[in-house]
Amino acid sequence: MSSKNPLIITVGAGKGGTGKDNTAANLAVTAAYAGRVPVIIDLDSQGTSVKWGKRREQAPSVIGTDAARLRTVIDAVTKKGADLIIINTPPHTADTESNPEVTSLEASRVADLLLIPVKPSRADVETLPTTFSLHALSGSTAPALVLFNQYDVRTTTLLRKAVAEVDRLGYPRIPDPVPLLAEFQHAWDEGMGVAEYAPNGTAAQEMSRLWSYVETFMAGRA
Ligand SMILES: Nc1ncnc2c1ncn2[C@@H]1O[C@H](COP(=O)(O)OP(=O)(O)OP(=O)(O)O)[C@@H](O)[C@H]1O
Ligand SMILES: [Mg+2]
Repeated sequence: MSSKNPLIITVGAGKGGTGKDNTAANLAVTAAYAGRVPVIIDLDSQGTSVKWGKRREQAPSVIGTDAARLRTVIDAVTKKGADLIIINTPPHTADTESNPEVTSLEASRVADLLLIPVKPSRADVETLPTTFSLHALSGSTAPALVLFNQYDVRTTTLLRKAVAEVDRLGYPRIPDPVPLLAEFQHAWDEGMGVAEYAPNGTAAQEMSRLWSYVETFMAGRA
């Protein structure tokens, strides 16, 4: 049983439907294959990741909680040996009673890395200043990286424009965008990660590349 500090990655974004649950779950499964002991903490009362977790028996387990109990849950899973904690959050602009901004602030405070999935669209990119401001407002000095997700491989014009805009704004990003791939949707439906659903498929390769990048990036900061 280890209680070394785990790596904590928060997955957050202003817009809904950008792929927060999908990224959190698949990174966790891929990292488990790479030898990590991951746990997902789901702060979204929608419970999408919690429901995915209930459809599976193997790691990672998914724990649903709220911002007030987040640190207690982190301590508990760390004592049980988790060395990677991935926190899924609600869209921080969501108009719900659970106060997503408070949730995002707390999820930023505890994170070693904030990963921000966005679709390559103007509407998504326009939310980034608020996301980065909230992260700074939390007092966190952890890095935040934009992750372009769900780009259409047939028409990359929008992706090129969105990447150019993010670079112009000066927001750091994961170099490789993740395409829109049906494998992600089928895997989710089965309560699986793509590394389990189609280990040799494109989506699994994309997630391996993403996990390697994140691991190397964080190792470089240690
Ligand atoms: N790269 C991808 N390829 C294909 N489908 C994807 C991809 N990423 C996400 N999706 C699909 O897009 C939908 C939204 O994804 P997800 O639930 O992860 O988004 P979210 O940001 O957590 O949404 P919400 O803001 O509502 O919580 C899901 O149906 C998911 O399967
Ligand atoms: Mg979600």
